[in-house]
Amino acid sequence: MRIIRDLTELRDARIARRAAGRSLGLVPTMGALHRGHLALVAEARRQADEVAVSIFVNPLQFGPNEDLSRYPRDEAGDLEKLRGAGCDLVWLPPVEAMYPPGAATTIEVGGPSEGFEGAARPGHFRGVATVCTKLFHQTGADLAVFGEKDWQQLQVVRRAVADLDMPVRIVGHPTVREEDGLAFSSRNARLSPPERALAPVLAQEMGGVIGRMAEGAAPGAILAATGARLAAAGLVPDYLALVEPDTMRPWPEGRRGEARLLAAARLGDVRLLDNMAARLPG
Ligand code: PAF
Repeated sequence: MRIIRDLTELRDARIARRAAGRSLGLVPTMGALHRGHLALVAEARRQADEVAVSIFVNPLQFGPNEDLSRYPRDEAGDLEKLRGAGCDLVWLPPVEAMYPPGAATTIEVGGPSEGFEGAARPGHFRGVATVCTKLFHQTGADLAVFGEKDWQQLQVVRRAVADLDMPVRIVGHPTVREEDGLAFSSRNARLSPPERALAPVLAQEMGGVIGRMAEGAAPGAILAATGARLAAAGLVPDYLALVEPDTMRPWPEGRRGEARLLAAARLGDVRLLDNMAARLPG
């Protein structure tokens, strides 16, 4: 497994790989790797000749009051996991390589960036779209694998790639969950034992909402009652909403078909995010 920290070396590796006619699958990460990330690596392995993982805690996607300095970092542990996962190349850029002095260009995505995480974290998706665009160009990836866990992020990246004609195929991978249903996330490491015990209630309640909607119940009342129950249990929802899966627009009352249920809830100082496919029968 090759570890690259220098942009010129990465460019040379890209040129050599292209000359050899081998495709590259990229898994962009911010490190603190867990089973969810390793499933993305395995997916990239299935779909491309070579796999690159980028590890970069992107300052541009953190707001002034967010937890950039507290974001978990474990480079040695990450590299060991990636060796075991059959990764070929790790791109570990220093901040100056990504954002050299004077950098003044960002990617602003409208549409699916609006609302939800876009509203809760102003500027977050600008940072995500900018860093992903740079990573796609730097690595020359043919495809990039993202977890569905960050559903809105996946739609924002898809939109940017389509709108800017980027020659990379975006692959979404289903959320990987713990035995008790909690979606894997680097931030779970910050949950105290009692918070960790409570956290799966979010996915359980979401599953209940989806089940009742599949039986024909109207979403509005169910979402309100579930939100209140979550808050009473100590999982304070920022939002619990049904949306169009790709545009992220609110699901129109009375419409039937494939929707997405999104949730963000605060548990202590951790924000849990989750989403699930929802079907409203006709
Ligand atoms: O999902 C993440 O870990 C990050 O938002 C990403 C896609 C690596 C961009 O920094």
